[in-house]
Amino acid sequence: MRPATVDIPDRRGRAALLEALALAFLDNPMNRAIHGPSPRRRLRANRAGLRALVLDPHPRTQTRVIANEKGVVGGFVVAEPGGFPLAGASLRRQLGCLLGQGARAMDQWGCVTEALRREHPIEPHWYVAVLGIVPSERRRGLGARLVEAIGALASASPHPIYLESDRRESVAFYRAHGFEVRGHLAPLGVPCWRLERAG
Ligand SMILES: CC(C)(COP(=O)(O)OP(=O)(O)OC[C@H]1O[C@@H](n2cnc3c(N)ncnc32)[C@H](O)[C@@H]1OP(=O)(O)O)[C@@H](O)C(=O)NCCC(=O)NCCS
Repeated sequence: MRPATVDIPDRRGRAALLEALALAFLDNPMNRAIHGPSPRRRLRANRAGLRALVLDPHPRTQTRVIANEKGVVGGFVVAEPGGFPLAGASLRRQLGCLLGQGARAMDQWGCVTEALRREHPIEPHWYVAVLGIVPSERRRGLGARLVEAIGALASASPHPIYLESDRRESVAFYRAHGFEVRGHLAPLGVPCWRLERAG
């Protein structure tokens, strides 16, 4: 079995990461609340919603993929201190999102993003915009490898690492890696945790 590696992706790697993350977030509560019960619909919506973040270059962000013998099975996009908020999506991406998700879902994501933005720390920090492992490859230590990789990046500029999660299980995962709950909120009635690890 090939040991998993964490790498900076090329174009193909980013495309593979998009697929992996679309699957990783398929069952997250906010996704279900906004896109409904159909997994097919949620997958399509996730692809559309993540395209700009994962495929387009953003200044002051770091993207990594984790690959094992099955190929790319997860990864992350992290904004460096001062890199939040990330640049908005291009018109082309927004149109793709409209087609992939529909106007109502886009409006709802807009409300969620705005609610999270209002609670965002004002001090410099590393921001984990997205991090995930495909469901079939979980509980093998791959998520831990990604958190280690973020820790290694953050050691170059030791500020806190901050993220949000709408999955109770992910909160337990991050707590096991030294994160503490900094607060809660419930945009659209879905509980979300704000987590932070000291720099
Ligand atoms: C959170 C997430 C990234 C964790 O990924 P993962 O690859 O399963 O993480 P790990 O394998 O390192 O750890 C997960 C659990 O497996 C356990 N584990 C690790 N290696 C293991 C092994 N070889 N055998 C059995 N269990 C193992 C860990 O102890 C951990 O348990 P805990 O959650 O009770 O602490 C993944 O669940 C995910 O993608 N979730 C959906 C997306 C999401 O919500 N992301 C977070 C917000 S950005």
